[in-house]
Amino acid sequence: MMEQAIQIEKLISGKTAAGALALLAGEFSGKAVFSTSFSNEDQVITHMIASDSLAVKIFTLDTGRMFAETYSVWNSLLERYGMKINAYYPQAEALEKMLSEKGPNSFYQSVENRKECCFIRKVEPLKHALKGNDLWITGIRAEHSASRNELKQLEWDEENKIYKYHPLLHWSRKEVDDFIAKNNIPCNALYSKGYASIGCAPCTRAIKQGEDIRAGRWWWEQNNKKECGLHTH
Ligand code: ADX
Ligand code: SF4
Repeated sequence: MMEQAIQIEKLISGKTAAGALALLAGEFSGKAVFSTSFSNEDQVITHMIASDSLAVKIFTLDTGRMFAETYSVWNSLLERYGMKINAYYPQAEALEKMLSEKGPNSFYQSVENRKECCFIRKVEPLKHALKGNDLWITGIRAEHSASRNELKQLEWDEENKIYKYHPLLHWSRKEVDDFIAKNNIPCNALYSKGYASIGCAPCTRAIKQGEDIRAGRWWWEQNNKKECGLHTH
């Protein structure tokens, strides 16, 4: 595993995000997947994959609680690039049980309930999306949080037994915004309303000036890492 990781690192070292993506798409042909939540970061990567027709499958985990604005971005991608985006859903039985027992907004009641909801709506469906693949591409940036700042562009995800690659890890927010503007890429209307990091509607709010990028995610939770469990380190 180590040796393969070193070889891949060599392959992509010094390359631009688009260049490295193209190389990895070739290297992992048919077994590379990219997860999108339609964030600006994800839109940059989607654009690179679409404009180079890279052999990378794109998927989204539709939690069922996304903003209407987010579904609009998804739809505008189909119109702009005519690409296929695979959608994964929570298992009906688990969802039915959780909502029957605890109602639709259990996540506000405890961290435990919140993690249960994230598990059912995102983490479990993620396993299906990753199954049979060898490389998982994400839109994570180091600036998102202290723990993400410690990441390497290429890492081995022991939990999911897959290589993970974060092409925009070292991009600044400005670089992302400039790329979006320059290429006229569709983006989530919520960004212009003060949202900085966008997840499920009931669990995301806009941030105030000076607040942390992820302060609007699960804002009612204090001493917690504010991760949904998709990305474990
Ligand atoms: S989260 O863990 O807090 O929800 P964040 O919103 O920062 O993640 O997004 C980081 C990366 O995780 C995205 O660039 C994307 O690759 C992936 N991701 C997050 N949410 C989803 C989703 N609902 N569907 C697919 N990928 C997602
Ligand atoms: Fe559930 Fe909120 Fe997690 Fe979305 S972010 S899966 S609504 S707890």
